[in-house]
Amino acid sequence: MSQTAMPDQKVLVFDFGAQYGQLIARRVRDLHVYSEIVPCDITADEVRALAPAAIILSGGPASVYAEDAPSIDPEVLRLGIPVLGFCYGQQAMAVALGGEVGHTEKGEYGPAVIMRAAESALFDGTPGEQTVWMSHRDAVTRVPEGFAITSRTEVCPVASMECPERKLFATQFHPEVRHTEFGQTMLRNFLFGICGLVSDWTMDSIIDDSVAAIRAKVGESRVILGLSGGVDSSVVAALCARAIGKQLVCVFVNHGLLRKGEPEEVEEVFTKQFDVDFIHVHAEERYMRLLAGVTEPEEKRRIIGTQFWKEFFAVAEELDGVKYLAQGTIYPDIIESGARKTGGKASTIKSHHNLIPFPEGVHFDLIEPLDHFFKDEVRALGTALGLPDYIVHRQPFPGPGLAIRIIGDVTPEKLEILKNADAIVREELDAYNERLFAETGERNSEHSVWQYFAVLPDIKSVGVMGDERTYARPVILRAVESSDAMTADWARLPYDVLARVSGRIVAEVPGVNRVVYDITSKPPATIEWE
Ligand code: XMP
Repeated sequence: MSQTAMPDQKVLVFDFGAQYGQLIARRVRDLHVYSEIVPCDITADEVRALAPAAIILSGGPASVYAEDAPSIDPEVLRLGIPVLGFCYGQQAMAVALGGEVGHTEKGEYGPAVIMRAAESALFDGTPGEQTVWMSHRDAVTRVPEGFAITSRTEVCPVASMECPERKLFATQFHPEVRHTEFGQTMLRNFLFGICGLVSDWTMDSIIDDSVAAIRAKVGESRVILGLSGGVDSSVVAALCARAIGKQLVCVFVNHGLLRKGEPEEVEEVFTKQFDVDFIHVHAEERYMRLLAGVTEPEEKRRIIGTQFWKEFFAVAEELDGVKYLAQGTIYPDIIESGARKTGGKASTIKSHHNLIPFPEGVHFDLIEPLDHFFKDEVRALGTALGLPDYIVHRQPFPGPGLAIRIIGDVTPEKLEILKNADAIVREELDAYNERLFAETGERNSEHSVWQYFAVLPDIKSVGVMGDERTYARPVILRAVESSDAMTADWARLPYDVLARVSGRIVAEVPGVNRVVYDITSKPPATIEWE
């Protein structure tokens, strides 16, 4: 069961395979109304059970007449719940109610100008002619009985249609896309003007509802949480701390593979700022023994993940009354894995990169309070719960930590070199990002660096320091611009920044005589080296 508290009013977004499905949910949430994505084949009974205040039908890539084309249960349109369809959603609505869809002469892709054809509450406060974003070949050619055409373009005979008596509205264009000039106004008109919703899904209400839901589920039991120091698990910890205080046990397994200063930061925050039980498991030596001589990256990942569970369960077994395991699963994990349909299905452990399945015979019920939040909502929640910025805005960091940024076997000597070099990289590039922020006033300006770190390859080369020949290691600097880690470009860092990083690493980190910069994008490379 989800521990995301479900607000009284929610908007369901039916997903017809849209490129913009998540975006629609985001736009609704931006207006402080809770919104959730459901598969388009959801039945009218399931919808009734979820009791949404409104429904939005997304676009989708199919043609309504294609074999296996997704359709909507017509019964959903008779529930009396207001419905707004976009693009394919308009076509699906038309077909379900007896209208017709056909090919337009030419498709419309990109900006188009609509001309209003009738009064419509959806267009309140917007001009008679306006630019919208279109992306279609098919279009409604005959509207269902009782519907009026409210706008058209030169190409598209039904750019929007509606039957206000039945609270059914639809547009061929995409109001959720920023290029639709008045898209957000239309969404506002629909949610507040037409459906009469209230804008009350705020951080405070989210925290209050989530805290109440966690308390109700947990009762008197204890909850154990594997804290990694990453954003998601830290926010879960802060939320559970607020909800159940001392019934929460945070277990921080220190594998010795975190960045310099990180274990101390995590301990500081969770022992000083939150009143929870915090257990710092010093597993550094055990990990070092297990990793000795291991060079294969996947093998490193497997060893580290398996040992994590062993360390974690060893602690859990010593504690009384632990029934639940809290996890930082977030909404994109759920959407991408398609694990949950309409919220009624039991959750399965996500195949998160740094979590491997439970060993046999071990069972915990899961608490996943973030399973309906997007990453930036999780960060906002973290801030509202009092987590410091350096945790809330932490860069992505692999679960297996520095072990995969050391190419070849992991030794204490190499770890020491990498931690020290990485600390310099972070210091210098943090400062560079701050300078950009001061200049542009934007935290994530076009040129700010998204992720940066040092990598230690498994080679040595000759250098000269003072009058001495050296035979030492190079350090690789990796710094990328990205928005989601799916693709990335190497950061065009100014030469003076590169020079400082290089100069400092060679001067301050014993065992390093060379610094090189990785100038490969993703694809074809990946962000990490492993
Ligand atoms: P790659 O190297 O595949 O990495 O381009 C994409 C992003 O994912 C991060 N990464 C991880 N994050 N656990 C995580 O939570 C992991 O095991 C893991 N491995 C890679 C990486 O830092 C980059 O941002």
